Amino acid sequence: MAGKLMHALQYDSYGGGAAGLKHVEVPVPSAKKDEVLIKVEAASLNPYDLNIQKGVARPFLPRSFPYIPGIDIAGEVVAVGPGAENFKTGDKVVAVLSASSGGGLAEFAVAKKSFGNRKNILITAASGGVGHYAVQLAKLGNTYVTATCGARNIEFVKSLGADEVLDYKTPEGAALKSPSGKKYDAVIHCVRAPGIPWSTFEPNLSENGKVIHISPSPGVMITFAVKKLTFSKKQLIPLIVTPNGEKLKHLVNLVKEGKLKTVIDSKHPLSKAEDAWAKAIDGHATGKIIVEP
Ligand SMILES: NC(=O)c1ccc[n+]([C@@H]2O[C@H](COP(=O)([O-])OP(=O)(O)OC[C@H]3O[C@@H](n4cnc5c(N)ncnc54)[C@H](OP(=O)(O)O)[C@@H]3O)[C@@H](O)[C@H]2O)c1
Repeated sequence: MAGKLMHALQYDSYGGGAAGLKHVEVPVPSAKKDEVLIKVEAASLNPYDLNIQKGVARPFLPRSFPYIPGIDIAGEVVAVGPGAENFKTGDKVVAVLSASSGGGLAEFAVAKKSFGNRKNILITAASGGVGHYAVQLAKLGNTYVTATCGARNIEFVKSLGADEVLDYKTPEGAALKSPSGKKYDAVIHCVRAPGIPWSTFEPNLSENGKVIHISPSPGVMITFAVKKLTFSKKQLIPLIVTPNGEKLKHLVNLVKEGKLKTVIDSKHPLSKAEDAWAKAIDGHATGKIIVEP
């Protein structure tokens, strides 16, 4: 990249609003110690950026002029500086840039290595009542989602946003192996008990990978305790949801905004609720089973 020019937006003094911004061609920055160079795919604006231009933090921010504003970015790592080797070119990342140097409204930006690497998440039984929400919520959190489900639901789970989907009845699916070789930072394990043993998860987890187990059995609790007591970096975390008004409100808002959808497997009148019951026992729903009074 050395010597290459890029398109950026910058300003030379405090104030001036939108008219104070100039389109310029400047050299692509280089990644120094503990930094990576990111090809910016999106930058978002914050009131914070506007305030820096107004001069509310003068003389500390910006550190110098001309200044390229913008600190929230998402993009792809294209070069890695010394000391930032835990990233590699091609990593999809989100970053908050240093406010003193800014740099987001440009084709390329440098970020310190402490930014958030995009997390890899595995969601098992992604076609089910819990799993189909988990996939959508994980995608809203900008994670890379691998999902498991039966062959008949692969296209459905992709349509929820999953990046890669495994048929749980194939050898790769049963072994939870990511088709692109990813290790999972977190697993949201939605398969019913007896589910999948720790020994299947373990080799697929990243160094600090966690399995969130929503169907905890006595065996799960023992593994949880053993991992805790041995200070294992890889952990099994049992989770039982407790109703929380604020969080439910947040979910309802996501539904209203069209960001989260409920997929209905089947609807049953209350007079035939036994059918819904039997279907739930069967364990092959796609989405939620509903009873209507
Ligand atoms: N901790 C909590 O607070 C909490 C809250 C709610 C639910 N849960 C628990 O969460 C679990 C899931 O509930 P749910 O309502 O989502 O279940 P569900 O809707 O009955 O799940 C059915 C789906 O799972 C798929 N499936 C079955 N075995 C699978 C496997 N080995 N790998 C991948 N997919 C598989 C089925 O696909 P096929 O039809 O193709 O087989 C089906 O689409 C249950 O154990 C439930 O008790 C916990």
